[in-house]
Amino acid sequence: MAKVTGLEGVVAGETEIGWVDGEKGYLVYRGYWAKELAVSKSYEEVAYLLWNGHLPDVEELAQLKAQMAAERELPEYLRKMLDLYPASVPLMLVLQSAMAALGDQENTTWPPTLKQAVRLTAMLPAIIAYRYRSLQGLEPLKSLPELGHAANYLYLLTGKLPEEAHVKALSAYLILCMEHGMNASTFAGRVVLSTESDICAAVGGAIGAMKGPLHGGAPYEVISMLEEIGTKERAEPWLREKLEGGEKLMGFGHRIYKTKDPRAEALQIATLAMIGKDASFDLALHVEATAVKLLEEYKPGRRLFTNVEFYAAAILKALHLAPEIFTPTFTAGRIVGWTAHLLEQSENNRIFRPQSTYIGPIPEEPVLTGHS
Ligand code: ACO
Repeated sequence: MAKVTGLEGVVAGETEIGWVDGEKGYLVYRGYWAKELAVSKSYEEVAYLLWNGHLPDVEELAQLKAQMAAERELPEYLRKMLDLYPASVPLMLVLQSAMAALGDQENTTWPPTLKQAVRLTAMLPAIIAYRYRSLQGLEPLKSLPELGHAANYLYLLTGKLPEEAHVKALSAYLILCMEHGMNASTFAGRVVLSTESDICAAVGGAIGAMKGPLHGGAPYEVISMLEEIGTKERAEPWLREKLEGGEKLMGFGHRIYKTKDPRAEALQIATLAMIGKDASFDLALHVEATAVKLLEEYKPGRRLFTNVEFYAAAILKALHLAPEIFTPTFTAGRIVGWTAHLLEQSENNRIFRPQSTYIGPIPEEPVLTGHS
């Protein structure tokens, strides 16, 4: 049987964008602590930082906000296309094809541009909200240019002007999701771009990687787990049964973090600040503590703790977002990191082309003769 490494420990490149230290639980964006940025800066400010390498001054921020607000409207052909998909097509696949559909001549140049990155980032929440509202039988809404990126997303989903506390919580979540080194989706995007393909194709590839439950698809399953558990008393028997059956607990474990994911910690604090310690938060805390104890019993020495997805589920539920848009919302944060990496990749590009070790049978060398 082939040895499966998942490229663990392999350094695939250098980056100035983000630093993750899994032993210490550090997450740094271009020299700033992500957890500090999440509570003190807006989505647009951190996006500017990741794209440009420094925080914006007043004028730079105003320019970016205006540019993003101007790019939010979906072209008519895209709206028509979104209307054509049957309801059974998962939203992440719809997003993936929407990225391809946005790849007109101006937006598929080599090298990619910051303008293209801003356009895709500005449009993504509008696409999510358009599709989500259509499936609910609700009229899609027009963006409000006076609202910031996070506030406008909430408005497009709900049709109500959002409360300040909700905007802050969503913004903190999106910022904490923006960047995470050479994670699976960022790597997928960089691989696509390294062929001198374009930003739309590369973001589409990254969305494909993000969709899976081992990466961005977990928060939905965390909610199902918490709902199935239901009460504190049921937590231990429920978790034990899953672990006895060899199942993985969603929202736990990480390739890099061997301590609690710092994003989970920051989201736990943000959720608590927003909703207080209600019954569902209390249950989440209890499930976390019980699962960490049982994981050490069933998987000793593997150092399995909560990852970002566990408290992402709590915060998104507290914001009354439907579980089917949890992973798309994660994507609306991570697209900033992806596009920053794609721009960095294009500045100093070499095609990604690793090797594999063949372990199949080796045939005798044939003696070729011409056919008569
Ligand atoms: N529950 C139970 N056991 C686990 C878990 C878990 N959540 N995670 C890892 N393990 C166990 C594995 O079974 C394995 O045990 P073994 O040594 O007996 O074979 C050991 O810990 C190592 O796990 P791997 O799967 O090899 O770790 P890897 O680094 O490949 O995977 C991953 C990391 C995918 C995150 C994994 O921990 C997992 O599947 N977690 C659950 C899904 C999840 O929460 N995904 C979101 C990740 S965060 C993000 O991407 C944004």
